Amino acid sequence: MTEKTTQPRVLIFDTTLRDGEQSPGATMSHEEKLEIAGLLDEMGVDIIEAGFPIASEGDFAAVSEIAKRAKNSTICGLARANYKDIDRCWEAVKHAKSPRIHTFIGTSPLHRAIPNLTMDEMAARIHDTVTHARNLCDNVQWSPMDATRTEDDYLCRVVEIAIKAGATTINIPDTVGYTYPMESAKIIRMLLERVPGADSIVFATHCHNDLGMATANSLAAVEGGARQIECTINGLGERAGNTALEEVVMALRVRNDILPYRTNIDTTKIMNLSRRVASVSGFAVQFNKAIVGKNAFLHESGIHQDGVLKNVETFEIMRPEDIGLTQKNLTMGKHSGRAALRAKLKELGYELADNQLNDVFVRFKALADRKKEVYDDDLVALVADEATMD
Ligand code: KIV
Ligand code: ZN
Repeated sequence: MTEKTTQPRVLIFDTTLRDGEQSPGATMSHEEKLEIAGLLDEMGVDIIEAGFPIASEGDFAAVSEIAKRAKNSTICGLARANYKDIDRCWEAVKHAKSPRIHTFIGTSPLHRAIPNLTMDEMAARIHDTVTHARNLCDNVQWSPMDATRTEDDYLCRVVEIAIKAGATTINIPDTVGYTYPMESAKIIRMLLERVPGADSIVFATHCHNDLGMATANSLAAVEGGARQIECTINGLGERAGNTALEEVVMALRVRNDILPYRTNIDTTKIMNLSRRVASVSGFAVQFNKAIVGKNAFLHESGIHQDGVLKNVETFEIMRPEDIGLTQKNLTMGKHSGRAALRAKLKELGYELADNQLNDVFVRFKALADRKKEVYDDDLVALVADEATMD
């Protein structure tokens, strides 16, 4: 099941270069950031959060250059709730065809205690800073950091203030990955019901993966009414990371019968981006990572291989080509059966008679018991030995 062009869109906001890069040790060079931004732009990401311009001269330079080069994506920069951050952010993003300022402040009781602001003082700060951002840029996103641990009444109050001050997108971050999917949907639904003007802006969801629920929470938020998902390639991000772009995009595509929304992403570019981000960030992708892990499309057990050889849909819910992967889906190991061996040998150019295949199969099993994976070269050697035995 794939999306239809008539379906409503969910916007994809990629923050690999901002929240992803905040992951300890994931720092990327200027050139690497430009390369990743170019690939995200080509892939069809709607909004690229390119960095935090006040954080360093390097971040400012990268956001400015990405803004100048972007062809299709909106380019966004992050700013805390003060004029200096917002001005610096604007200076960097203003070069884009479509610029956005994203400003935020922590609104939960724990976060309010840090700047030591009363609820009223914080509300006034939100009004002033969003108004200031909106005077610079037509496209302003506002985030109440730690929204999912903010009191409902206060969250409704500050979201209303931000909308009245001119925010065009309201992002609801689950900053510490604390939420359950049903709560994630409920928060967005509550805001849409209770906040005046909520139907005139876009709600975004921004989830962290501390309990492994970032993808489920993002999709639940869409069910609740969010129309922008914030995510990173490979789920890169602080601690357990952010929502993985490839997971939400492919989930929307594969289970479009459940959540009938389309994205603008060219999914065939996913694998290349995953590899480039893993390489430049130095964060390898775990083998069993959904969608982009090395094993995500590999079958080793005899039953699975046999099924896949007869009808690929028995054990695959999406095709490797959908994410731009050209690798073969059978890996040969001790769990592989005769049918898979025959198919693999055929792929390598050998069609053996049944008795020869039986001999090679016995020796293949013995080898597979000693080695984790049997490579193509090993199989070629087994066939060559068989030929000399005849
Ligand atoms: O996780 C978070 O709360 C953030 C905000 C800055 C949006 O990344
Ligand atoms: Zn975040």
